[in-house]
Amino acid sequence: MSLDEATAALEVERLRKIIRDHDYQYFVLDNPLVSDIEYDQLKRQLETLEEQFPDLQSPDSPTQRVGGQPSEAFESAAHRAPMLSLSNAFDEAEVAEFDERLQRLLETEQIEYSIEPKFDGLSIELVYEQGSLTQGITRGDGQVGEEVTSNVRTIQNVPLTLRVPEGKTAPERLEVRGEVYIDLKDFDQLNQKRSDAEEPTFANPRNAAAGSLRQLDPRITAERPLKFTGYDVPNPELLEATSQTELMEKLREWGLPVNLSYKKCATLNDAFSFYNDLNEQRDTLPYELDGVVIKVNHFLLRKQLGTTSRSPRWAIAYKFPAHQATTTINDITVQVGRTGVLTPVAELEPVSLSGVTVKRATLHNQDEIDSKDVRIGDTVWVRRAGDVIPEVVQVIVEKRTGEEKPYRLPTHCPVCDSVAVREEGEVALRCPNASCPAQIKESIRHFASRDAMDIEGLGKKWVERLVDEHLVQSVADLYRLEKDILVELERMAEKSVDNLLAAIEATKTRSLDRLIFGLGIRHVGQNLAEILAKYFENLSSLSQTDVDTLAAIDGIGPKVAQSIVDFLQDEHNQALIQALQAVGVDPHNEVTLSADLPLEGKKFVFTGTLTQMGRSEAQKLVKSLGASVSSSVSKKTDYVIIGESPGSKADKANKLGVTVLEESAFHKMISELNL
Ligand code: IVH
Repeated sequence: MSLDEATAALEVERLRKIIRDHDYQYFVLDNPLVSDIEYDQLKRQLETLEEQFPDLQSPDSPTQRVGGQPSEAFESAAHRAPMLSLSNAFDEAEVAEFDERLQRLLETEQIEYSIEPKFDGLSIELVYEQGSLTQGITRGDGQVGEEVTSNVRTIQNVPLTLRVPEGKTAPERLEVRGEVYIDLKDFDQLNQKRSDAEEPTFANPRNAAAGSLRQLDPRITAERPLKFTGYDVPNPELLEATSQTELMEKLREWGLPVNLSYKKCATLNDAFSFYNDLNEQRDTLPYELDGVVIKVNHFLLRKQLGTTSRSPRWAIAYKFPAHQATTTINDITVQVGRTGVLTPVAELEPVSLSGVTVKRATLHNQDEIDSKDVRIGDTVWVRRAGDVIPEVVQVIVEKRTGEEKPYRLPTHCPVCDSVAVREEGEVALRCPNASCPAQIKESIRHFASRDAMDIEGLGKKWVERLVDEHLVQSVADLYRLEKDILVELERMAEKSVDNLLAAIEATKTRSLDRLIFGLGIRHVGQNLAEILAKYFENLSSLSQTDVDTLAAIDGIGPKVAQSIVDFLQDEHNQALIQALQAVGVDPHNEVTLSADLPLEGKKFVFTGTLTQMGRSEAQKLVKSLGASVSSSVSKKTDYVIIGESPGSKADKANKLGVTVLEESAFHKMISELNL
């Protein structure tokens, strides 16, 4: 069938509209209405028609995202309104100072703020003329940036045309500012692809986004998973917005992607609880944030405040502690772990990461050192997220002086001098000697640690001493220590011996899950130990289990089940368990799991201050009834329990349609469970 041009023109317009609507549903509303296959079909139909009727082609068409020609260099382009940066705050006091300053300037006692996540990417200005995207300009020096229009056009969620709401007309020229960034998952994939192709990897998503946007060949940019999120318009009156929160709504209405977790804050305390919530969730989010931005909400007030040459007076970035920083490697040493693994450790020039000073970072193993080509003396990116051990991410090769020294792990255990072995299929080099003092020390430290048996006062120094003096060879020996012998040790005060012995004695009644975790079975973390303790009455019943029984438990896979059974069947470990039982460490469980735990499988999130019982008590309570507890709200959450000043988690729960219960309703629910 062949069409005449007029009919084709109508069809092309119809298809474009449908595709744009789908793009809007998918990228802006996050609510796709068709499958990828249906969408691709529509696009193909449109492409075919545009090929057949080249006159109908248009740069606005959803087919025109890729294919710009490579250029020699970027043109520069001036910003009509300067693109400023933000001043920073690092603690609540600095934010309070900002608020007080504004109160003085505005002669008012209460300012309404809006607060938003601060994306860690790079800022960009999009220019829409009569509703069509005509320019994308980087920030540059704030006055003049680089024109990266062909690249920006390849960013999937940047609309090539604005959606003009009913009854409105597109402004002659609209400038929209926002951040270009890369999701963490996409970043990992991109780096994986690059390392497979033996290309240099990016140190972090921000560098990857910057490197991708500043590509001279737009076809390369098109392959990079860049995203855009909007947050600022120099002339918001064009969209009839009078405040930041209104602007965010309008941007969305006009087809631009904005992040929905912004919030209007009546008080500074609201802003602080938004910050705290977001900081807590930070490591579970799909993208990297480096803080929040607190902005005076109303544009009229902003006008009164004005800007300095560098930054607006009406906004401040309240930064999260940095997860990543650069420093130098002074030396590489070896640590022998609980299971004998020799781990190379970078001894760093101290650097602040996520709010703590970091002096050492793991290099994992020799393969890792080789593939990253880490040398002593190198300047490197180090990273620490959440509870994760700090690690060396990447060498900054440009900083090399030629003095750096390559490193190889030793062939022998640095502690007991046994020949280190590398088991087949494993990357780790291991000390095979189960009596290696380093392994003994590490297993005792783990056993005594806060989340395991929590032996108060049994720190690194005590452990060193006890093992070096041959008083303790296994954790069971701790319970056989005698006062007479300990006080004989050099420089040992009677008081601290008494304290230690009392602390050890007190742990005989610790719960079974702590003991299981404390044994240090490979792959058995705290969570899994809790699960095991629900299914088994005591260590003896756990010792008699088999792989099939374990693997049938929700949350335990075959590999982990095997590792548990291997541990329990090992002669040494059997002797250890018997020895522990003999000295009186043998917790029994009253409740073993039966299928009818009333909250089995339910997921809870607690937020705000609980008044009837403490948060950890409430968490324990629901866990004992079979539920699990997490710190962030997702679609999978069953209940969000809110105390006083709950913060943004309650909002998120409402948005996701998750049940939100006030504390009193929560207690009512528990009391109705017929326990
Ligand atoms: S507002 C002049 N809002 O942070 C004020 N900036 O450190 C315009 N950024 O250059 C910026 N998320 O690249 C604003 N929600 C957000 C932001 C944000 C990230 C970036 C932006 C800015 C930089 C300043």
